[in-house]
Amino acid sequence: MAKMGKIFAVLTAIAMAVGSSSASLVTFVFGDSLTEVGNNNYLQLSLAKSNYPHYGIDFTNGKATGRFTNGRTIGDIISAKLGIPSPPPYLSLLPTDDAILKGVNYASGGAGILNDTGLYFIERLSFDDQIKNFETTKQRMKAKIGDEAANKICNEAVYFIGIGSNDYVNNFLQPFLADGQQFTHDEFVELLISTLAQQLVRLHQLGARKLVFHGLGPLGCIPSQRAKSSRGQCLAQVNLWVQQFNSKVNKLIATMNAHLPSSHFTFADTYEQVLDLIQNPTAYGFKVSNASCCNVDTKLGGLCLPNSKVCSNRSDYVFWDAFHPSDAANAVLADHFFNAIFSKSPSPAPMPSHSEFLLS
Ligand SMILES: *[C@@H]1O[C@H](CO)[C@@H](O)[C@H](O)[C@H]1NC(C)=O
Ligand SMILES: *[C@@H]1O[C@H](CO)[C@@H](O)[C@H](O)[C@H]1NC(C)=O
Ligand SMILES: *[C@@H]1O[C@H](CO)[C@@H](O)[C@H](O)[C@H]1NC(C)=O
Repeated sequence: MAKMGKIFAVLTAIAMAVGSSSASLVTFVFGDSLTEVGNNNYLQLSLAKSNYPHYGIDFTNGKATGRFTNGRTIGDIISAKLGIPSPPPYLSLLPTDDAILKGVNYASGGAGILNDTGLYFIERLSFDDQIKNFETTKQRMKAKIGDEAANKICNEAVYFIGIGSNDYVNNFLQPFLADGQQFTHDEFVELLISTLAQQLVRLHQLGARKLVFHGLGPLGCIPSQRAKSSRGQCLAQVNLWVQQFNSKVNKLIATMNAHLPSSHFTFADTYEQVLDLIQNPTAYGFKVSNASCCNVDTKLGGLCLPNSKVCSNRSDYVFWDAFHPSDAANAVLADHFFNAIFSKSPSPAPMPSHSEFLLS
């Protein structure tokens, strides 16, 4: 029930945004490689790149765009369901582009909540960098259409945030990095949460009111982590840590809603959903969930490099590479998200009041 309530709250945030103005919904997307649509292509030295085959093999025209999957991200699919284009990468836009008024994607592969997460990728946009880029966007919007109109767009937009996986996979879980040695998990998760708290407050100061934070999936079950186990099984400890993080973010979001004026922040917990897909792949039409379609070497990064061998049927696999779901899995996850929402709420109008929204 609690889960349905949260999912319902997510929809309500979106429905409120859609219903609240005649203009189409504006979304600002922040995150890592699960949501990136090509910012890292513009970072010359970044090692977190996917703008080469076989990435994008199932995207429009089979094009590698900088998305870390064979086709669409969950964000692309959700945008399509909302009837809006998937927002373009921030670094692809000119300062004067009209496009900045219609939604922007700031996500960057390798990025985390902490600045030093993913440091061995040389270049990536940390969550702080992404927030700074949003601040720049807002200044450019003001220059274009004036303060009042820019503030209105920022207040009415929906902010999608999916970040934190790399703080584990490319930081805490890497034995050669300082954070995993310096901190216990309890200390590390507190550091993540206190940093995230400041970041969300900053976004609120910049105008964010409707915000959806996507919780982490069962990272212990992604192929790059299974490869560290003795028999290819999920790493239970990692999954416990992730759940601890999710539970703390959930509490943080509740606190923010209670203290930040007009905030309608939502925690979207997709952990159980993703775990079910991994544990019961055949129930969803998949054949393999414990290995990736692209035959990657997890000791050498785990990305699908041009010389990697790709499986014969990409929709049989939940995972595309050692970290990222396939287009087919993203479709299932995005679909489920929406179906759960709409079966609960066949008609988004009339809009529930804000107090009802906050109850869930
Ligand atoms: C992280 O980097 C941002 C700028 O990119 C800076 O404002 C912030 O103070 C840094 N945080 C820490 C803890 O070093
Ligand atoms: C995945 O699971 C199958 C069937 O349970 C097993 O035969 C196979 O060895 C596993 N693959 C890996 C990489 O663990
Ligand atoms: C690929 O796999 C999907 C899902 O298992 C199946 O529906 C489809 O028929 C397969 N395609 C081919 C060409 O085998």
